[in-house]
Amino acid sequence: MSNDKKLLYSGMQATGTLTLGNYLGALKNWVTLNEEYECLYGVMDLHSLTVRQVPADFRKNARSLYALYVAAGLDPEKNCIYYQSHVSGHAELSWILSCFTYMGELNRMTQFKDKAAKHADNINAGLYTYPVLMAADILLYQADLVPVGADQKQHLEITRDIAQRFNSIYGDVFTIPEPYIPKAGAKIMSLQEPEKKMSKSDENANATIKLLDDRDTIIRKFKRAVTDSDTVVRYAEEKPGISNLMDIYSCVTGKSNDEIEKEFAGKGYGDFKLAVGEAVADELAPLQKRYEELMADKAYLDAMIKMNDEKAQYLANKTLRKVQKKVGLTERIR
Ligand code: TYM
Repeated sequence: MSNDKKLLYSGMQATGTLTLGNYLGALKNWVTLNEEYECLYGVMDLHSLTVRQVPADFRKNARSLYALYVAAGLDPEKNCIYYQSHVSGHAELSWILSCFTYMGELNRMTQFKDKAAKHADNINAGLYTYPVLMAADILLYQADLVPVGADQKQHLEITRDIAQRFNSIYGDVFTIPEPYIPKAGAKIMSLQEPEKKMSKSDENANATIKLLDDRDTIIRKFKRAVTDSDTVVRYAEEKPGISNLMDIYSCVTGKSNDEIEKEFAGKGYGDFKLAVGEAVADELAPLQKRYEELMADKAYLDAMIKMNDEKAQYLANKTLRKVQKKVGLTERIR
């Protein structure tokens, strides 16, 4: 990471299969912003531990996530794509930052409240301090920009607050990161309950498009998408189903809402849903093909993981040593 490009950092939890929401809200934008920035992308496996995982499935999911990043178009020789748990600095910085985070701040996190309600039998401390680990991820690499979906906005705000608090005590230690939340695609909604975010963990399979769904499945799910009793393709608050489909179509075709409304003027919802399904299937086809190739090439993926883990570890250590020194921890004798 030697040039003067600004630094972009992001990541996803290593659970389940990515959804179209993950793709349009984040991954697709990572690829678009990729050339302009020096980029690091984490497979956020430590974050996934806040929910119980089946170890063997979890390992497979993490590797699959790594391959999906690459299949989407992120070159692991140009971008540092690595496993969070392979860089010890995340957990170490997280501890230090937790001593600079107030419980009042964590109490306000809506994602904690949602997840606690969903996993009432396992409201563990990790779920509560999750935003501190996320702040550590970002601040460890001195990130300038963090592209995420709208649901991560609050976590970015607390990251900035923690960094500013730390800097106000110890001087300019951390870069204050800016969120990058796309206009269209920041919040892709469920195809079955368009008032609800599209989520990996939805029990209704028709609600979610998975990145590895085949073409027929994708088209079938869009055909079944819940809309309204009107027939006009128009973007409006009172038409959340159609507006969501328009957002999706706009993200994959680059067309504006005006253009989409014109394209489907006089046509019914059936035509529109089919067009969205086909456009999404076309968009995902090359990614799926590349994914299969990558998953079959064990040696290549292993080599990329090893190389990038080392790169990330090196960068993380630079910040970590600085922070340890600032707070007055005794330096190691070398
Ligand atoms: P995660 O794994 O839940 O989601 C990964 C990314 O996908 C976005 N996203 C969506 N965007 C639009 N519509 C949706 N329906 C949708 N669902 C998910 C999320 O906003 C996110 O950008 N805490 C993070 C992972 C993380 C992280 C980080 C991100 C850990 N450390 C540091 C950035 C920087 C999370 O749980 O994302």
